[in-house]
Amino acid sequence: MSDASNAGTNQESLYARLGPEPFWSIARAFYARIERHERLRPMFPQELDDAIRNQAEFLIQYFGGPPAYSARKGHPRLRMRHMQFRIGLQERNDWVDVMRAALEDAAIPQSDRPAMMAYFEHAATFLMNDEH
Ligand code: HEM
Repeated sequence: MSDASNAGTNQESLYARLGPEPFWSIARAFYARIERHERLRPMFPQELDDAIRNQAEFLIQYFGGPPAYSARKGHPRLRMRHMQFRIGLQERNDWVDVMRAALEDAAIPQSDRPAMMAYFEHAATFLMNDEH
């Protein structure tokens, strides 16, 4: 995974098994938490509807579903798209904690969470662009 934008074929089954709805639930739950997060809220746009859609379509695509994200926005280039935000260890850890709670909120099956969290922890580290 050179750019954290695409799952290996072994993860295609996640979308095949769960369908699109859980990924929309994750994105909605994630941004509901961002909305009231003291440190992360200021990084995100005032209006979060587009962010929810970006996240849901990206996750669907990443976990083996149709590439609606790329059809709309092109290659994810996550590291490049995050360069405009200062992501240090604190932001990385905050983001991962919010996502872990969002999986809980979205009632993702317990057995599917480790694979998802492994990706999120890895990708969030890869997106760090500040030492602090
Ligand atoms: C597993 C790690 C992550 C993934 C998969 C991810 C994914 C994404 C995606 C797909 C977008 C939409 C980009 C676009 O189309 O313009 C996005 C936007 C964004 N991400 Fe991340 N991200 C991750 C980690 C982080 C971290 C650690 C931070 C900082 C705390 C962060 C902050 C943001 C912000 C502020 C936006 C702009 C919201 C928007 O306009 O959509 N992300 N992220």
